[in-house]
Amino acid sequence: MKASISETIVTRRTSKTSLTTEIPVELIYNLLEKASYAPFHGKTEPWLAKIVTTDTEKQWLYQRIIASYERNQIIKDAQSRERMTTKMTRLILNSPATILFAHEVFPDDQRKNYDAIEATAALIQNFSLVAWEEDLVGFWATSPFILDPILTNELGFPLNYELMTNYRLGYRDLEQPIKTAQRQPIHNWATPLVPLAE
Ligand SMILES: Cc1cc2nc3c(=O)[nH]c(=O)nc-3n(C[C@H](O)[C@H](O)[C@H](O)COP(=O)(O)O)c2cc1C
Repeated sequence: MKASISETIVTRRTSKTSLTTEIPVELIYNLLEKASYAPFHGKTEPWLAKIVTTDTEKQWLYQRIIASYERNQIIKDAQSRERMTTKMTRLILNSPATILFAHEVFPDDQRKNYDAIEATAALIQNFSLVAWEEDLVGFWATSPFILDPILTNELGFPLNYELMTNYRLGYRDLEQPIKTAQRQPIHNWATPLVPLAE
């Protein structure tokens, strides 16, 4: 029997590793379509996504990221090259799938801009939950390359979109127990509003 929404929210965990099993691209589209019933404010959804599953796509993305790190001095010597190429090999080349999420940008309207970011975060969380239902585990990441507008444009996003998340996706190893998570006690962060005396 399928877990309830509440159970899925509580049991879902992040993992930077997974099985290497390929994920059918049609399944990813299907999960994104379900996730797109996230709320949004405005006439059209403020998000775009690019799906990376083939070796050609992974190689091309990896090369563009390394070029971005060189351009932005994140790679500036042999040591940083070693660190970043190792990281990106693990994260991009060796990942069964990556989904790049971008949000529409409203430079002259801070509220609309917040709304676009918040709605896209809701989409991503929905995606995490429906993926978990299919025994897929995600790693929601904000790698430094998301901040490079040249790269964002090279990846095919329009100029009025900002890259927000690189999301790693893979099948969970069902032999491994699910990690338990810790959260602060509710009353640490949710408190009644105390109106000040007039
Ligand atoms: C907006 C956002 C950005 C994140 N970026 C990173 C990241 O760059 N690196 C990382 O290790 N984890 C990142 N995470 C994942 C968190 O580490 C993870 O969600 C947190 O440790 C709680 O674990 P859980 O998802 O298993 O409950 C990000 C999560 C969110 C929501």
